[in-house]
Amino acid sequence: MGLPNKEVLHRYLDVATEAALAGGGILEGYWGKLDTVEEKGRAGDLVTIADRQSEVAVLDVIQRHFPEHQILAEESGLIGQEHQGFCWAIDPLDGTTNYTHQYPFSAVSVGLLIDGFPAVGVVYDPFHRELFRGAIGLGATRNRQPMAVSQTRELEKSLLVTGFAYDRRETEDNNYAEFCYLTHLTQGVRRGGAAAIDLAYVACGRLDGFWERGLSPWDLAAGVVLVQEAGGEVTAYDRGPFDIASGRVLATNGHIQDALSQALLQVKPLGFSFLP
Ligand code: IPD
Ligand code: CA
Ligand code: CA
Repeated sequence: MGLPNKEVLHRYLDVATEAALAGGGILEGYWGKLDTVEEKGRAGDLVTIADRQSEVAVLDVIQRHFPEHQILAEESGLIGQEHQGFCWAIDPLDGTTNYTHQYPFSAVSVGLLIDGFPAVGVVYDPFHRELFRGAIGLGATRNRQPMAVSQTRELEKSLLVTGFAYDRRETEDNNYAEFCYLTHLTQGVRRGGAAAIDLAYVACGRLDGFWERGLSPWDLAAGVVLVQEAGGEVTAYDRGPFDIASGRVLATNGHIQDALSQALLQVKPLGFSFLP
């Protein structure tokens, strides 16, 4: 199935916005009021009533408007059958660890994949009241004003962000070496703790680039659209085509894509050899 026309894309974008704002309201409501925090399996992979109730609110909006569409939501898994290539990818609370510590850097991420490609994306950060929206061919906005990636052209002058997946204690491919090396080469590497906001910040030019492994489609779907529509570039680490199923992403303002790609391919794994 080809891309829908602009009018239809606008409708998807508006429904994604309604859903993200609904989820954001739930995150505000539970802020500082969590009685329990559960672990989902891996150490540090947390879930709370805020994740679950935000997901209920987001699903309610999407299913009311598009009952036939398939949905992949972090806490519910895959819902519904394949329908004309549409699949919503939803993270009801990206940045759960931050949220449980009352570190205000979390968001709701609502993306729409069409034939596996991110086509519509909304990231809403209720703690800074920032609404990031984008759709293929329609551009990208922050709080309804057009946004664009930064103009930084040298890695040495860039500010980057990355993250570490919950399997980091089990695999030598844990991103530790990449983090050290890029910290060495740039003005800094942040660890935001919410991949959807990391991508949104690249899209609005606060950060020049983002890379990470071990991510899920719900972390990536919305933010990838934002970066692409804000004039940035999203690829695999080796600059091959971005594949959402790989869990790996390299997203920059475009100018430093090549240099960051080369750095990521050069670095040798640090493994666990530095541990006592
Ligand atoms: C996590 C965040 C984090 C990233 C992890 C994700 P969650 O999502 O996006 O920045 O490094 O890999 O799993 O668990 O807070 O939704
Ligand atoms: Ca997430
Ligand atoms: Ca989440």
